[in-house]
Amino acid sequence: MAEAKSEQKRTPKGVAIARAHPGAGSPGGHVRGGGGAPLDIERYLSERAAMVERALARAVTETDAAAGRLFEAMRYSLLARGKRLRPVLALAACEGVGGPLEAAMGFACAIEMIHTYSLIHDDLPCMDDDDLRRGHPTNHKIYGEAIATLAGDALLTDAFWVLAKSAADLGKSASGNSTSELTNAPSPAAMLATIAELAAAAGSMGMVAGQAIDLLGEGRTMTIEELEYLHRRKTGALFIAAVRGGARLGGASEAQLEALEAYARALGLAFQVIDDILDVEASTEQMGKRTGKDLAHGKNTYPGLIGLDKSWQLARELERRAQHALDGFDHRAEPLRSLASFAVERRL
Ligand code: IPE
Ligand code: IPE
Ligand code: MG
Ligand code: MG
Ligand code: MG
Repeated sequence: MAEAKSEQKRTPKGVAIARAHPGAGSPGGHVRGGGGAPLDIERYLSERAAMVERALARAVTETDAAAGRLFEAMRYSLLARGKRLRPVLALAACEGVGGPLEAAMGFACAIEMIHTYSLIHDDLPCMDDDDLRRGHPTNHKIYGEAIATLAGDALLTDAFWVLAKSAADLGKSASGNSTSELTNAPSPAAMLATIAELAAAAGSMGMVAGQAIDLLGEGRTMTIEELEYLHRRKTGALFIAAVRGGARLGGASEAQLEALEAYARALGLAFQVIDDILDVEASTEQMGKRTGKDLAHGKNTYPGLIGLDKSWQLARELERRAQHALDGFDHRAEPLRSLASFAVERRL
């Protein structure tokens, strides 16, 4: 299998951004026009990811000695190298509509905590049975299945604690009861709508349903419609929640939320199509997780169902759709535009 002819840059904070050589072939001989992510999005991504990582480190500081290994396990996965794409998207959506970063930071942390919990559980022997994640042994390989399961449970639950607490803090700053300089804090209604959408996207109507459909479908070939349904829940739902939530907390109008939902819908599906492709085309070293496992597990994937070439075509078409959805936005949506390209061009 062809390996990516890409050069990876790892920032001090550990965010890795694959940068294809201009004009060089990407995996499988696919050439991207323009030659990959421009330098400014690289800097943007690593700065935003570092910001999120600092906030995450502050969010999970508990050290209750009796449950010490639980907190160690939570931090082990949460603070390991991840792309932080969902929280960065939430922040970019907030800024894309002219909102202040501070309004979406608690929400961004919550999204990443939920995503990390989903990875810990996804890797368990009873699910995908993986031994490598974010460049390190999977959580259960270090802490055992019981603590890994509980670390996931805690990250999921604590995510809503972090979000609710940030809502309360923002509420105080809105009423002038805090040292924060935020003058246009999100309304309680906007906060509640965001929390409800996040819960729906993460739970049995969204990601958890997708994970169940994924596992129940192993060994049975799905139709293309079934596969899209699966991917939209397993991965797409959280992307939509990230973008809509970030934008709403930034003061988006209903029309903006609708356009951004179309953007996130296309990007979220593209992201999982690329994840499926990279499982075939990329190396374990590049990805920080084992590749070549989907086929062995009888997973339903885009390359498995329609082949690599059509999967690439679909991913590019979805990227075009995501870009098109941003037509009505000004220069403040530039990071969102670059993030859509990154989601498809990434080799990690
Ligand atoms: C992996 O997500 C799981 C999928 C939904 C495909 P990411 O590729 O965003 O993983 P991290 O956060 O960078 O580790
Ligand atoms: C997982 O999809 C999606 C989640 C909700 C965690 P995968 O099982 O394809 O993710 P990887 O490839 O293990 O990261
Ligand atoms: Mg899985
Ligand atoms: Mg998996
Ligand atoms: Mg995968």
